[in-house]
Amino acid sequence: MFDIMIKNANLATPQGNMPKSGKAQGEILIQNNVDIGILDGKIAKIAPRGELGTPAQEVINARGRLVTPGLVDSHTHLVFGGFRQNELQMKLAGAQYLEILAAGGGILSTVKATRAASFDELCDKAEGFLNDMIDHGTTTTEVKSGYGLDFETELKQLEVVRKLNIHHDMDLVATFMGAHAVPTKFAGNADGYVNLLINEIIPKMADEGLAEFCDIFCEDSVFNVEQSRRILQAAKKHGFKLKIHADEIVDLGGAKLAAELGATSAEHLIAASDEGLQALAQSDTIAILLPATSFYLGKPYARARDMVNLGIPVAIASDFNPGSSPSFNMQLALTLAYIGYRLHPCEALTAATLNGACAIGLGETKGTIEVGKDADIVVWDCPDLDYLFYRFGNNQVYTVIKNGGVTYEID
Ligand code: NIG
Ligand code: FE
Repeated sequence: MFDIMIKNANLATPQGNMPKSGKAQGEILIQNNVDIGILDGKIAKIAPRGELGTPAQEVINARGRLVTPGLVDSHTHLVFGGFRQNELQMKLAGAQYLEILAAGGGILSTVKATRAASFDELCDKAEGFLNDMIDHGTTTTEVKSGYGLDFETELKQLEVVRKLNIHHDMDLVATFMGAHAVPTKFAGNADGYVNLLINEIIPKMADEGLAEFCDIFCEDSVFNVEQSRRILQAAKKHGFKLKIHADEIVDLGGAKLAAELGATSAEHLIAASDEGLQALAQSDTIAILLPATSFYLGKPYARARDMVNLGIPVAIASDFNPGSSPSFNMQLALTLAYIGYRLHPCEALTAATLNGACAIGLGETKGTIEVGKDADIVVWDCPDLDYLFYRFGNNQVYTVIKNGGVTYEID
């Protein structure tokens, strides 16, 4: 007896446990009229309609709707105090993202609000976001700290992630990002903060064991390449896997550094040079691209087509944060990836599922609908993949299946 059966699904899924690149990024399995049996939270059987051969306690009749793996949001800054609606008008009036940061706003204003917020406040707020994210089809989320810039607050953020990972249906992967900005206390002395990170904060954070990855904002007037290299080498020594916010606004050489250090992912890459892309193409690093951030900051779209053509595995994520992307809607990110990056819907689906899962170390269990994988599944109120990408702005989820249960149903 299955726990759940999804009946009459129009299945679209990438396949396998490894990141897909080049032509393979767009090769997904599309199979109409299938039934999917779920047992103990895992995908137990996939068969042509009517051929599962075993009954189920609960039957979801997809009636020919599109069924995909749950979306994997591989880059978010989910846990933060306050919001920054005041900055949008400044940006529209011409203020640049890095200028706002240099004036003590931007990330630094969220740092103030996050330090001031209690653990429970941060937890309740993030929990509300997670509820909405699942309702919008995201079933696994990476979360970066980085709004503390001191040990105590960074730890508070990561403890929120741990608590929510235990109590919430969403699966979470934590990233320590103490090098998200230079804290006000160290203004003009970035090296002083880098030394503190290397000598104290990173070793202590490694002992806490709350984060699998370490990320850094390698950017003009934030952390330069040499500082980034030192921090990431220290993090690697202490057992963290590496991520880099690389070449988001200025081409500093972050993509090259990611390749050099064997980082799991290089993220943003809007300004990455040909040389940076060539280095990534020769590495195992996954490019995590964030189309909603390009849209929201009025920046160019990253060169996703070139990346796919060069054989770099591309993932897509929301970059949900209170400044450069106050949206966690992965459906919007998919449509922007289609229109802004010119990724084909099949390539973009792989980017938002399997490649995203691989970029946070979960390719073995997440990102595809295959027997043995976790039953993280979305039934969309759409007839096919093209339709999912064509509509935008409304929530197209029909039902989400997560942890052996149905978390969202519209009728
Ligand atoms: O990925 N670029 C750095 N970090 C975030 C923005 C964080 C913020 O503005 O609060 C990003 O865009
Ligand atoms: Fe980010």
